[in-house]
Amino acid sequence: MTFVQNPSPTPVLSDRLRERLVSLGIAIAAVGSDGRLMPLDDMSPIERLIIKAPAFIATVRRHWSQISQCSGEAVRVWPGVWLVPMPTARRRRVVTKNQLMAVAMLFDHDLLDSEHLHLLCDQQELDLKATLARIDRDSLMTRSEVDRMAKSLGWMKQDSVELDRRVFELQTMSQQLAESYEELSLMYKLSSNMMVNQTPVNFLDEACTELQQVVGLRWLSLQIVDQELGLGELAGSIFEAGDSPVSTEALKRIGVELIEQIRADPKTQVLDKLDERKIENLTTLGDHLLIVPLVRGEKLFGMIFGAEKLDNSHISSIDSKLCSSLASTMSIFLQNAMLFEDMQGMFMGTLHALTSSIDAKDSYTHGHSERVAQVSRALADAVGLDAHTCDRIYIAGLLHDVGKIGVPESVLCKPGRLTVAEFELIKQHPEIGARILKDIQQMNDLIPGVLYHHERWDGNGYPHRLAGESIDLFGRILGLADAFDAMSTNRTYRRALKHQDVIDEIVRCSGTQFDPTLVDLFLKLDFEPFFDLVLTHQASHKGHDPISTGSLESDSS
Ligand SMILES: [Fe+2]
Repeated sequence: MTFVQNPSPTPVLSDRLRERLVSLGIAIAAVGSDGRLMPLDDMSPIERLIIKAPAFIATVRRHWSQISQCSGEAVRVWPGVWLVPMPTARRRRVVTKNQLMAVAMLFDHDLLDSEHLHLLCDQQELDLKATLARIDRDSLMTRSEVDRMAKSLGWMKQDSVELDRRVFELQTMSQQLAESYEELSLMYKLSSNMMVNQTPVNFLDEACTELQQVVGLRWLSLQIVDQELGLGELAGSIFEAGDSPVSTEALKRIGVELIEQIRADPKTQVLDKLDERKIENLTTLGDHLLIVPLVRGEKLFGMIFGAEKLDNSHISSIDSKLCSSLASTMSIFLQNAMLFEDMQGMFMGTLHALTSSIDAKDSYTHGHSERVAQVSRALADAVGLDAHTCDRIYIAGLLHDVGKIGVPESVLCKPGRLTVAEFELIKQHPEIGARILKDIQQMNDLIPGVLYHHERWDGNGYPHRLAGESIDLFGRILGLADAFDAMSTNRTYRRALKHQDVIDEIVRCSGTQFDPTLVDLFLKLDFEPFFDLVLTHQASHKGHDPISTGSLESDSS
């Protein structure tokens, strides 16, 4: 007789419990409704002899209904032979006809006097005495021992099933945690990148790369098509990560057609049967395509799409969910970025209008604030300040003379020398400026620049006669840029100096009026942008005043 292998997709007994029963010397087998026992581990010759016997198989078959009830009690199937059912489920349940279940075989002393065993030996032409001698008498139990062992096995089985269940739950939880970690980690990275000073192009480029790597796609693309949502330069752009099987142009064309196809029903989906989509070269992208629409409000403005997992697995619902979450994050970021750009544009426009109106009080200083802002930013950059600080010092440059609003125009525009009293009025403009900015929280960091741009390195400036590095760096930078522009352009009281004369004067005043370290850096600046700006201001102010620089005069000569 041959024994078939367990056909059940799930084991009838866990490895852990099987090993424990074997170590206790208990024979275990799988049994079905046909009464045949299939050993789950080694069995002794006597045990094998018994379970192969047709009479034994027949009696087990007759007891199947009792065994399959899984009552937890031992079932006496032959004189001296007991089967203890060990159901796979935690709770008792009836095993159906086609299922297998695990049983433990227990033996009592009746086995020695069993006529069935004697008959079996005759049939098999075995020597009865020798056969009985091979039975381990110590393993034979009493009836009460069988009952106690059946109970113990039942508890052991219950504990084992409970343990397996918890291990499974732990593994499931670990897997979910790992997936959640990846999702959270990606979202955290993207959130960190969602700073307002991060450009949308950089953000989308990085997001595309991160997503491709986390999801594990061979390639991934992000495409933006809609030009009606105020996305500016982003409209029509495409971002790629990984190894796309087609050129960027081809990918872009395919993407545009796909977006049109999903426009009526934009939802995250994995497309198959790509040949039915009637898009040229679509099937070259892969067998299955993950599509994630980018939606703002109710409008579709783009799409993330990609194909082929690097580990050749299927694109799962978790992958889709992750991409979908990211698409929502991207939409929010883009919406905020556009709003920020609008606000920033409005802010800078207002700022330029304000500074122009200040400069307009004195026609000789037309464009002065913008030029000071530009030179200050270049010098701040040369100092090694970060981009954000350089942007802030540009704004401080635009506003450095905002306090002149409080100085009478007759004094500001007075040709010739000022009286002491008039100069005292002029000297108030840094403090007036600081007071104006004091109530605007977003501009508090600019106040030192505005307040101290007329202080001198040697302590002979105003308003506080600070000296050296006690003067805020913004103030020192703005002061140098201010003096440079003042000397380089016409004033009511003198003509512009030639560029070389301006440079010589700045060098001469290094260590007295100006911070010598800043002067060294200043001398290395490229002044072409400054002169270009002067030309722009001249062109916009033609016919109003003689803005000119000594440099331009000398250059043209
Ligand atoms: Fe000033």
